[in-house]
Amino acid sequence: MTATARPHTAVLGGGVMGEALVSALLTAGWTADDVDVTERSAARAMELSGRYGVRAADPNRKAVKGADLVLVAVKPQVVPEVLAEIAPALRPGTLVVSVAAGVPVAVYEAALPEGTPVVRVMPNTPALVGKGASGIAPGSHATDEHLALVEEALAATGLVVRVAEKDLDAVTAISGSGPAYAFYLIDAMAEAGVLLGLTRDLATRLAVATVEGSAALAAQTGDHPVVLRERVSSPGGTTVAGVAALDAHGVRAGVVAAARAAYDRSRALGAAARPTPTAEPGPARDE
Ligand SMILES: NC(=O)c1ccc[n+]([C@@H]2O[C@H](COP(=O)([O-])OP(=O)(O)OC[C@H]3O[C@@H](n4cnc5c(N)ncnc54)[C@H](OP(=O)(O)O)[C@@H]3O)[C@@H](O)[C@H]2O)c1
Repeated sequence: MTATARPHTAVLGGGVMGEALVSALLTAGWTADDVDVTERSAARAMELSGRYGVRAADPNRKAVKGADLVLVAVKPQVVPEVLAEIAPALRPGTLVVSVAAGVPVAVYEAALPEGTPVVRVMPNTPALVGKGASGIAPGSHATDEHLALVEEALAATGLVVRVAEKDLDAVTAISGSGPAYAFYLIDAMAEAGVLLGLTRDLATRLAVATVEGSAALAAQTGDHPVVLRERVSSPGGTTVAGVAALDAHGVRAGVVAAARAAYDRSRALGAAARPTPTAEPGPARDE
């Protein structure tokens, strides 16, 4: 491999997240020749190869045969059938990375050949515009080098942080589900603007720009959110009156409860998906 060569990569499932991954790989320096995306629908496969120039005609098993990196981007309930299909065709050492929400590493390790390195990713939807936040967790055979490769592959999707798999439920509760909390806040601010006499369009544009700008300011300065909030709260002013009303209505407690509920749900879904201890070990590879 030359310094700029990228591992041949198969993206299994070319839906919303699969397309975001293909786009991120190309932005990160992979060439269209390096990427093979698989799809059930021929029309969608043609659309992806037309848009990105990548190969999109192979079935899963053929695509993984030539791959050094496999990104699993099918719905969680389809993961077991896809793993059963690809297990005999995986080359030893091929890194399998999954973005499927709530499917534990143990499911991959039980279904794939012994020793297969696996990395589990919890992305979020802002990855579609390069502003995502992803937690990545290694399986028992994934090394620092594997994690570095995943960071490189996901670099164009936004922030990528390494965590232990046990912390992915918390990552799910904060950044995985977090965009919905932010959209909820934007919607509430816009609704309030309408109540106070602004048009819905104007109120929504003001709310979106305010949340986007506040996040950018927090990210760029690195200042604690409390410091940023105090900086815009003059004594006896409008902002401190607004924040006091948020406190009086328990909004902080509501956010904590929302994250706790998402965390509990993520743990329950993960436990239900975990293979039973009597599960058969992964099949042997194709010779
Ligand atoms: N979207 C998000 O924001 C987001 C965020 C975090 C994590 N994720 C995870 O990303 C994964 C994909 O989600 P998504 O939103 O991208 O779903 P999606 O748009 O439904 O994409 C899944 C794609 O996989 C295709 N597919 C189904 N079975 C297949 C098979 N056997 N082989 C190859 N392709 C197959 C589907 O085709 P058909 O439509 O023809 O079935 C569909 O195009 C999920 O596991 C989800 O948990 C998504």
